[in-house]
Amino acid sequence: MTKLFINIKELIQVRDTSLHKVSGKEMSILPTIKNAYLLIKNDLIADFGLMNEAPTFSIDKIIDCSGKIILPTWCDSHTHIVFAGHREQEFVDRINGLSYEEIANNGGGILNSAKKLQETLEKDLYNQSKKRLDEVIALGTGAIEIKSGYGLTVDAELKILRVIKKLKENYKIPIKATFLGAHAVPAEYKNNKEGYINLIIDKMLPKIAAENLADFIDVFCEKGYFTVEDTDRILGSAKQYNLTPKVHVNQFNAIGGIQIATKHKALSVDHLEILTDKDITSLQTSNTMPVALPSCSFFLGIPYTPARKIIDANLPLALATDYNPGSTPSGNMNFVVATACIKMKMTPEEAINAATINAAFAMNLSDKVGSITKGKLANFIITKEIPSYNFIPYSFGSNLIDKVYINGNKI
Ligand code: NIG
Ligand code: FE
Repeated sequence: MTKLFINIKELIQVRDTSLHKVSGKEMSILPTIKNAYLLIKNDLIADFGLMNEAPTFSIDKIIDCSGKIILPTWCDSHTHIVFAGHREQEFVDRINGLSYEEIANNGGGILNSAKKLQETLEKDLYNQSKKRLDEVIALGTGAIEIKSGYGLTVDAELKILRVIKKLKENYKIPIKATFLGAHAVPAEYKNNKEGYINLIIDKMLPKIAAENLADFIDVFCEKGYFTVEDTDRILGSAKQYNLTPKVHVNQFNAIGGIQIATKHKALSVDHLEILTDKDITSLQTSNTMPVALPSCSFFLGIPYTPARKIIDANLPLALATDYNPGSTPSGNMNFVVATACIKMKMTPEEAINAATINAAFAMNLSDKVGSITKGKLANFIITKEIPSYNFIPYSFGSNLIDKVYINGNKI
């Protein structure tokens, strides 16, 4: 089936196959074609160019896009969408003055979500998670990473990863699974963190590898959660199963998480709200993608990742949602892009690059998604009639999406 999209006001993020990420000043360049056509064949992008060069034969369907912009679907490289129930009471508690840390210390936080998830049947967990996935695809997400980490027992962590596996089977968008057993120390191991780490290494990892349930490994490297030494041990053990690290670091404190993640050749380091000069230097000598999660900063009222400092140091930067029940109950990448511009002073070009091509890199999906490139998946957003792509972050509260195409089909 060949579909031709014609009269596209502007086709955004057109790239060569060879480009996998943009760093520093390159991030301010967003290649586009005005008055363009886009040709797709089955599930792939076949060609694109100026409207007056559009093909005129062997087309099954023509779609007129006058006044509309086409851009690649968002890539969300950091989510926790497989969770059970919600934590809106903690949200109210925070309004009334409790901190995220105080709530966690009172048995709320990740442990609260883990309790709910342990009591939830796999099929119910699947149905709850599927709703979230449907919601974010309608909001323009066309590739996603999903973490475990709200199980914290062998059975519950496997339950989450099996749900992710089922989502992979039932959905057309690329989905990557990350094992985050080291998300928090469960209550029964409160005074025996080593015991829990042993459980991760000796029981969880071998089972996950045997069932091929994960692509990546993650650790919440943070004061009160897992130390740099714990992280080193877990990432080191995951190596034998070929699990590449993507690590939660520097959310509240800079404790050396970046150094240990880059030592283990992490694909990404995520959060980075607190970032030292030494961290910047470590990132400069690595191939690791820094990932900012502005919706989390917005929701918790914590500092925003210093995007300017990162980009001005000639580093790349990706953006993701962190969709989870505690720190970011939102999977809206449009909001992430807008917030990055408004609060982190990223330009629209930088933010769109961060949420597409660089975010694809942060999931090892550069060959499939993240740009309008011949041979990549035909996953793209057609906007409503808008004056320019700057309007996307500018008009931050409006839904500007007219249609989302996944694998060449309108959803
Ligand atoms: O990425 N920081 C660690 N994990 C999640 C939040 C966990 C929760 O509060 O449920 C995050 O922000
Ligand atoms: Fe997270």
